[in-house]
Amino acid sequence: MRVQVRGIRSIEIEMVDPERAAMFYSQVWHLTEVDRRDGSIYLRATGCYHHVLAIHRAAGAPALRRIVYDAASRDIVDRLFQSVRGQAPQCEAPHVLSSPGGGYGFGFTDPDRCNFAVVCDVCDHEDCADRSDHPTKISHVNLNSPDISRAGRFLVDALGFTPMDHSGALTFFRCDSADHSSMVLCQAPWTTLNHVAFEMPDVDSTMRGAGRMRDHGYPIEWGVGRHGPSGNVFAYFAGPEELPIEYSSEIRQVDDSYVPRGPEFWSRPPGRTDEWGVTNPHTARWKRIQELFRYVPDAYRL
Ligand SMILES: [Fe+2]
Repeated sequence: MRVQVRGIRSIEIEMVDPERAAMFYSQVWHLTEVDRRDGSIYLRATGCYHHVLAIHRAAGAPALRRIVYDAASRDIVDRLFQSVRGQAPQCEAPHVLSSPGGGYGFGFTDPDRCNFAVVCDVCDHEDCADRSDHPTKISHVNLNSPDISRAGRFLVDALGFTPMDHSGALTFFRCDSADHSSMVLCQAPWTTLNHVAFEMPDVDSTMRGAGRMRDHGYPIEWGVGRHGPSGNVFAYFAGPEELPIEYSSEIRQVDDSYVPRGPEFWSRPPGRTDEWGVTNPHTARWKRIQELFRYVPDAYRL
């Protein structure tokens, strides 16, 4: 059996103004604050994970501090540590965690020096029913990399991801989940965060969320539309301090019989940037903000 993570549990960001960001993610984005500690703010979605977003104070520019994967058991954490430690530039041993939600896990960096963690046994929530117009979890994270074959090999060889479709500059990766992809790599000149997607329970919620964002002065930078390979409905925005964020719903559900396709299959007529053909191309701002969010150096220890 392949040893794999089963999705993205949370992301951690550094903001110049954490209070303003927390206000946005609770009142506009519809997450719920669950904890504060040492100046950091933790917010949950409606799913069971203790938190899906941690906001820390930035020492300099806003940045991505960490992406945290969820594992099903200590045995899987320990086995993933064995494969990661030989391939990661930096890696610490698994240990019991004292951060909000606790648990057991370890931190490491990938070949692009992005910080990751694999954790299990977190004190999660029992109330996890979907709620209309509220995010359920992190759907996927897309990272820009100057060398996606190297970064992709690490996802596959060290963490057990399965390569899925590739289209244009994008390659998709699935873990132990029915979701088509939890990680996406984008070939780019930069080593930065491309975007973070929050899953909405249905298309109506994505549409209502997009409308609420516009009401609060956050225009849609790309969308609403439907993607090809991952199949999800998308709406992209520049969040506080220009963090690239997405509302997403109906990501394609697959099993091991899914046959990945290449760029020929997913090509579209000129000018069309989604499956429906309804959205305008992304804005110049959307492209620009994908160069902004760098990774906090050497912040891999939990
Ligand atoms: Fe996305």
